[in-house]
Amino acid sequence: MKRIAVIPGDGIGKEVMDATMHVLEKLNLPFSYSFYEAGDAAQEKYGKALPDETLEACKKSDAVLFGAAGETAADVIVRLRQELNTFANIRPAKALRGIKCLYPGLNIVVVRENTECLYRGFEFEFDGVSEAVRIITRQASERIARYAFELARREGRKKVTALHKANVMKKTCGLFRDVCREIAVEYSDIEFNDYYIDAACMYLVMDPFRFDVIVTTNMFGDIVSDLAAGLVGGLGLAPSANVGEKHAIFEPVHGAAFDIAGKGIANPTAMILTACMMLRHFGYLDEAKKVEEAVERTLESGKVTPDLGGNLTTMEFANEVASLLD
Ligand code: NAI
Ligand code: MG
Repeated sequence: MKRIAVIPGDGIGKEVMDATMHVLEKLNLPFSYSFYEAGDAAQEKYGKALPDETLEACKKSDAVLFGAAGETAADVIVRLRQELNTFANIRPAKALRGIKCLYPGLNIVVVRENTECLYRGFEFEFDGVSEAVRIITRQASERIARYAFELARREGRKKVTALHKANVMKKTCGLFRDVCREIAVEYSDIEFNDYYIDAACMYLVMDPFRFDVIVTTNMFGDIVSDLAAGLVGGLGLAPSANVGEKHAIFEPVHGAAFDIAGKGIANPTAMILTACMMLRHFGYLDEAKKVEEAVERTLESGKVTPDLGGNLTTMEFANEVASLLD
């Protein structure tokens, strides 16, 4: 029995999680789901965005399934990734069948370092001056670079591209770039190059097919993964997995989306595909494929949520997917 700690969180987190649980229930897998609170609402209620009980449960679980947090995201999901040492954040951007997007056929993956960089949380403020400390270590850079190359091999991908700004941030980005170049030598079967992050953003928009696996530091990874999601249809479709040696957290790329929360119109595809990444993590490859296929068939049918030009509610979309699993 796999113990899954489920944190729906804030805003559309709850809505897309309900929809995803409805799909997962159809699979009858040996999973036990326990629900925990975290996020803005938990902050209000307990004075802590990530209550101790939730953190402990996540540490004891076999996996965490996370929806979204709101303004407390840094105290919840960024902290959880650090506490559970899930050092790699895997964010595929794949054009799905039936989606009218900028780049049909695109299939890239962003591998984001998850534990350091400016998101480490070392921020100080004194007398009108605010500062943030950016931590980049050889150890974490090696670990994420290796992860990217191993992922490329495992998925039959041909190329790894490191993104950095080593011309300006000579020490931090310089270290990251140098380590990526060193590790690349060990993987002569995989092509390697690196770009400055700003130019890479232009290449991503104008010619994303030059990328396959992207590896980058925490904050750049956050930014380019939303950009990459935009190339293939938007945040409503973008799943992600945070993995470490002991723990794993599965969460969509998107946040609480307060602009559409409470209306029942969020696209649950990102969360459902996130659950598929969890299924694969536990070795349920056939089940993952089955759900992914059901999602794509539903998208192809044109019965979709408003972000994709349709008029289905979150739950109606989930029902369509679930009905294909019978
Ligand atoms: P967001 O990712 O929540 O939303 C960005 C845009 O994408 C919005 O227009 C939203 O409506 C749309 N969108 C996102 N997910 C969608 C879905 N499933 N279906 C349809 N449309 C979708 O980012 P935003 O608006 O910058 O932040 C909102 C709140 O979420 C903030 O409080 C922020 O701190 C938090 N946040 C939390 C994250 C997390 O928990 N991992 C990540 C990003 C933001
Ligand atoms: Mg983000």
